[in-house]
Amino acid sequence: MRRVVCPGSFDPITNGHLDIIGRAARLYDEVTVAVLINVEKKSLFTVEERIDILTTVTKDYPNVRVEKFHGLLVDFCRQNDIPAIVKGIRVVSDFDYELQMAQLNYRLSGVETLFMPTNPEYSFLSSSRVKEIARYGGDVSGLVPDLVHKLLIERLRG
Ligand code: PNS
Repeated sequence: MRRVVCPGSFDPITNGHLDIIGRAARLYDEVTVAVLINVEKKSLFTVEERIDILTTVTKDYPNVRVEKFHGLLVDFCRQNDIPAIVKGIRVVSDFDYELQMAQLNYRLSGVETLFMPTNPEYSFLSSSRVKEIARYGGDVSGLVPDLVHKLLIERLRG
């Protein structure tokens, strides 16, 4: 069984994340989407809401499961017998940051990190930008799954 993890905050999931998850699901037998529980960071959606959203928008991928984790990602990998992490790379500055994290994670545990270039259609996309645009009434359709679009409008403008 070839397993991989797609970790993140997913507050909320964007079409860029979904593209990476879907591509990983074609390459691996099982993809675990791991949502970070970060008590220090103020989030728009609770972890449980994010898990529900992720479960709904990945329902067409039978080999994708959604979990939450706290602490070190490599500990989650060890506990779940997952030998590799997949990370989407949008721009060179992502690579600078992710390379250090990948090397540290490997040093800590031997867990490998594989970088997947983001679809250029989404290379400008981030959850923070999406929230900012939606907060000020901009149109984020096409940038996030339809469910997220609806929930963003309800939460930010309702
Ligand atoms: O979507 P994000 O917020 O960019 O995701 C970042 C995430 C969750 C992948 C990263 O912060 C993470 O792995 N956090 C868990 C703590 C950890 O393992 N840190 C790495 C130490 S080298």
